[in-house]
Amino acid sequence: MKKLGRLEQFLPFVLVAFVVLGWPAGAGSSPTSHAIDLDASQYEFSPGRIEVQQGDYLVINVHSTDVVHGFYLDGYEIEVPVLPAVTERIEFVADTAGKFRFRCSVSCGVLHPFMIGELVVLPNRPFWKAVLITLLALGSFLLYLWQKSQARKSENVQAN
Ligand code: CUA
Repeated sequence: MKKLGRLEQFLPFVLVAFVVLGWPAGAGSSPTSHAIDLDASQYEFSPGRIEVQQGDYLVINVHSTDVVHGFYLDGYEIEVPVLPAVTERIEFVADTAGKFRFRCSVSCGVLHPFMIGELVVLPNRPFWKAVLITLLALGSFLLYLWQKSQARKSENVQAN
């Protein structure tokens, strides 16, 4: 058995790199845009729960149906006052996964502290797919190295 050249030794590694870098980008679903109409009224937001994927682009049109409210989003530190008859447009990329409360930030009555909604940003699936592919590729590369060392061992046994 002839010794592998330097280039041939690196070939599997190059292939692995190709798979890891190229595959996830092609297989992953691209970020989506969401246009959400959010009503603020005493004492709730409607919808009270917004669910998106990490990396999605959000346009939230928030408006009050009665008195002056406010919109404050935990984690993203977004705050806007919401006046009656004025639609506030909030745009941002949901780049952090997790559960975030949005709450009214203007005292609007006795139950103001309970005027709370929830933004759920689900972790990016393509990201975890990429992690899985990386682990699989690494595993097969290690297997390849192990097989090579086994082959070398049996060559040595034959030589002696
Ligand atoms: Cu609505 Cu405070």
